[in-house]
Amino acid sequence: MAQNTAEDMGYNEEILLEKLHNIQESYSYIPENEIDNLAQKFDMPRAKLYGVIKFYSMFYTEPTGKYVIRVCDSLSCHINNSKKLLNDIREYLDIDDGETTEDKKFTLEVVECLGYCGEGPVMMVNDEVYTHLTPGMALKILKNCV
Ligand code: FES
Repeated sequence: MAQNTAEDMGYNEEILLEKLHNIQESYSYIPENEIDNLAQKFDMPRAKLYGVIKFYSMFYTEPTGKYVIRVCDSLSCHINNSKKLLNDIREYLDIDDGETTEDKKFTLEVVECLGYCGEGPVMMVNDEVYTHLTPGMALKILKNCV
């Protein structure tokens, strides 16, 4: 059986994603009331909207830290010692993957390939990409986040 496209289900996915991006940028997450508003506007069940939000790793339904750190642990980065990088970041921030520091400054995410496989290990801090990292370089970058 063919799967329904977004258009078949009565909403334009591109417009929905643009709205989600704008909300995410304003609040650093997608608050409940905005989910209600979008569900109404796009005439779609909340559960389906949650499905869309959960599908994209850049959307959050809980407040994140001011800085969202994404560390790639896919194969190429893993071979280039992303594990050590991650462990040092976890230890420095005293949080685990998917957690936010108590002061709400940092959220740590372990992610799939960020598209810089030949330049690993790779970390993103918000929209900034850092490549060829050593743990020392990564911690210096985080210490400079104010
Ligand atoms: S494997 Fe890390 S960026 Fe591709």
